[in-house]
Amino acid sequence: MRRPGRSVTVTDSNVDSLYADRLDASLRRAGFDSVRYVFPAGEKSKNAGTLISLLNFMAESKLTRTDTVFALGGGVTGDLAGLAAALYMRGIGLVQVPSTLLAAVDSSVGGKTAVDLETGKNLAGAFYQPDLVICDTETLKTLPDTEFSNGCAEVIKYAFIRDAELLGLLDRNAGIDEIIYRCVSIKRDIVISDERDTGERQLLNFGHTFGHAIEKYSNYLIPHGSAVAIGMTVMTAAAVKQGLCNKDCLDALTKILHEYNLPVRTEYTANNLFDAVLSDKKRKQETITLVVPRRLGFCELIKVTLGEAREFLQLGLKG
Ligand SMILES: NC(=O)c1ccc[n+]([C@@H]2O[C@H](COP(=O)([O-])OP(=O)(O)OC[C@H]3O[C@@H](n4cnc5c(N)ncnc54)[C@H](O)[C@@H]3O)[C@@H](O)[C@H]2O)c1
Repeated sequence: MRRPGRSVTVTDSNVDSLYADRLDASLRRAGFDSVRYVFPAGEKSKNAGTLISLLNFMAESKLTRTDTVFALGGGVTGDLAGLAAALYMRGIGLVQVPSTLLAAVDSSVGGKTAVDLETGKNLAGAFYQPDLVICDTETLKTLPDTEFSNGCAEVIKYAFIRDAELLGLLDRNAGIDEIIYRCVSIKRDIVISDERDTGERQLLNFGHTFGHAIEKYSNYLIPHGSAVAIGMTVMTAAAVKQGLCNKDCLDALTKILHEYNLPVRTEYTANNLFDAVLSDKKRKQETITLVVPRRLGFCELIKVTLGEAREFLQLGLKG
C-alpha cells in the first residue's frame, strides 16, 4: 500500500450521500488529502464521457503518480474509477471499496476495468489490479432488495461454474461474509491461473455473452445481474436441448433465480440480440467461446462457429 498523499474518492450520486463523508473523514485521519468526484448513478454513466471528465478532474486536482483513487460504490463505480486509475499518468494507486453485493463478490476483485462504448458493453478497458480491496459488509444493509438480488445472480454463477454448495448457503441465507469469502476465493484461484482471460477465466463469464447482449439491447434498462440471470438460463436451456447437460441443472437454476426474484426469460429474439453477441470479447473472428454448463458446479468452455452460437441463442430463447 502506498503512503498517504492526495486521493480522489470516486462515487455515484446514491452512494455519495450514504458513505462518502465517512470514507473521506477516515482518509483524512489516515493523512490523505482527499477530493471527491461524484457522477450520476447507473450504467449509463459508465461511458467515455464520464471517464474523460473524471480524468480531467484528477488532473485539475493535481493528482500525481504516487496518489490514489478510491472507488466507493458498486460495479459501475469500480469499473469506471479502475480504468481512470489505470490510464491517469499511465497508472496510479487504486483501492476498491465495494458497496454492492455484486461488487463485493465479483467486480472489485480480479482487475478488470472498463467503460461501455456505443456499440457494446465493456469494450474499452484495461486489466489493472487494485492495491487493496476494502469490503465493509455493513454497507450492504442500505442496498435495495433489487440490487441485492442482482448480486445474487453473480453468486449463483459461481455456484454453477465451481461450487454447487453455494446454492445451499444461499438457500439457508448463511452469513453474507461467508458467501462473499467463498466467491472471492473462487475468483482469486481462477484469476491467478489466467489473469488475462485467455482460458479458464472465461468461465467467469457464464451467462454474460447473452447477458451483455440483453443489457445492451435494453439500453441498460435491464441491470447487469438480471441480464446475467437471463443469460445463464438461456445458455442452460440451450445446453439441455443440445444434450450437453441434464434438465435437473436447468430446474435448479430457474428455482434459485425465482427465489431471488431474478428474471429467467426475455421477449427479445435472436435477431434482436445477435448483433450485440458479435461484440463479445470472447469472439475471435469467425468463432466464439461459449461457457456451457455440463452439470451443477461444472461448466466447460466450448468454441463454436458464429452460426452455432446463433443456434444456441435461438434454442435457449425458446425456453
Ligand atoms: N470488472 C468486473 O470484473 C465486473 C464483474 C461483474 C460486473 N461488472 C460490472 O458491474 C456493473 C454492475 O455493478 P452493480 O450491480 O454494483 O451496479 P451499480 O454500481 O450501478 O450499483 C447498483 C445500484 O446500487 C446503488 N448502491 C450502491 N451501493 C449501495 C449501497 N450500499 N446502498 C444503497 N445503494 C447502493 C448504486 O447507486 C446503484 O444505483 C456492471 O457495469 C458490470 O458490467 C464488472
